[in-house]
Amino acid sequence: MPYQDLRAFLTALRNAGELVDIARPIALKYDIAKALAKASSVQGPALMFTETGTDFPLVAGVYGNRRLALLAFEATEQTIHDKVLKGINNQIGPVDFKGTPPCQEVVLTGDAVDVTKLPVPTYSPKDGGAYITAGIVVSENPETGIPDIGNYRFQILGPKEMGVFSASNHRFGKNIAHATEMGKELHAAVVIGVDPMTMFSCQVQSSDATNDWFVAGGLRGAPVELAKAVSNDLKVPAHAEIVIEFTVDTKTQKMEGPLGEYTGYYTAASPKPVARITAITHRKGAIFQGLLTGKPITENHVLKQIPFEASVLRQLQAQFPTISDLSINSSGGVQTYVVIAMKPRYEGEARHAILAAMASNLHPKWVVVVEPDIDIRNSAEVEWAQSFRVKPREDVFVVDRTATAPLDPYTDGGYSSSVGVDATRPFGVEFPEVSEVPGWRDFDLPEINKG
Ligand SMILES: Cc1cc2nc3c(=O)[nH]c(=O)nc-3n(C[C@H](O)[C@H](O)[C@H](O)COP(=O)(O)O)c2cc1C
Repeated sequence: MPYQDLRAFLTALRNAGELVDIARPIALKYDIAKALAKASSVQGPALMFTETGTDFPLVAGVYGNRRLALLAFEATEQTIHDKVLKGINNQIGPVDFKGTPPCQEVVLTGDAVDVTKLPVPTYSPKDGGAYITAGIVVSENPETGIPDIGNYRFQILGPKEMGVFSASNHRFGKNIAHATEMGKELHAAVVIGVDPMTMFSCQVQSSDATNDWFVAGGLRGAPVELAKAVSNDLKVPAHAEIVIEFTVDTKTQKMEGPLGEYTGYYTAASPKPVARITAITHRKGAIFQGLLTGKPITENHVLKQIPFEASVLRQLQAQFPTISDLSINSSGGVQTYVVIAMKPRYEGEARHAILAAMASNLHPKWVVVVEPDIDIRNSAEVEWAQSFRVKPREDVFVVDRTATAPLDPYTDGGYSSSVGVDATRPFGVEFPEVSEVPGWRDFDLPEINKG
């Protein structure tokens, strides 16, 4: 059975020595971020802060490194991609929770709504304020009603107001634009503290026609249990820790930002829509969840990498079946730098694969194709292929005016350009043999055999 909720996963982490309590008083402003940055630097455990100065404990770094992500997926490096692809290909619809859902054990409406009572950290010194960074947004296409879930940041602006940022190519942003066009009010909810597979499913790249609860169910191998929100008709995960229901006000925009983002740079403040909170519901003894984003590698990158790689691999393999693997490097924010392993079937196929990757929702700046003998997760091997299997004039090309990654700090007004590198050996042409010492793995070298 999958982890039913965040608490079940935290229990598993604690039992594995992967969750550590910080029981002394901690400042929400910067100190949570300092603790997370330090834990991340040593690939450390998740952290539970019990003294936050509020009524709620705060857990953070739950998926702070690849080891914790693999525990969440109940997978190993060997099984992870197959497991994710199996989940995406075998989707399972949600079911309605019967009775009062845990996420509504406490219901706050009207004057009782006050988001500033939650332990929301301020992460970086130049951030515009405190940010909810580990929330998942539930919204619906205002025309078709198809639900979307995705991770989106929220800046606390006041007890009943939050700043909203969604890139225009993400579905929450599209739903806001669509509702505005139709003259409709968009209802949404930001959900904090869900089970691990629902969290990771937010980063699976699927078409706008996809009901994301089916993807979450597929990854879980069991349906997500949903409950109707208290102030609108949306359905939210019944076992969530905290749900903040709101409507998006696009008429009175307020400054949102800056925030130290996944590119490693601050995004500038600008006027953005406001989330007007209509209700806050939570479990008894609710646990708030925090997450550090910033210069790679942070939890933001860990959350994206596994689902992004599986989804883009799935898309590209449909057209190029000889693609055997794909890596979206953390150093490029899990966005700008893609390495593909493939055995081209005809001259120019590697170039076609590069163009297809450039056209994916990632908007990468760099796409490198190598042959399957190269370990694409070992940058030294990729550089070796680029050094000795590339004639730059023939194998490197630039595509102008490609759409940039939304928060790229260095663009020409939303456009950039993308570099393709075909580092496969020339098709159908004799190429020198790779010189390798055969049988070296089996050589008995007394001192280092233990490693
Ligand atoms: C921790 C985290 C925070 C994110 N915050 C935002 C955000 O504030 N705005 C945004 O447009 N995308 C954000 N993203 C990226 C989207 O969640 C991501 O691209 C997702 O696939 C969008 O899915 P959707 O288009 O189905 O909603 C964030 C990703 C992560 C992992």
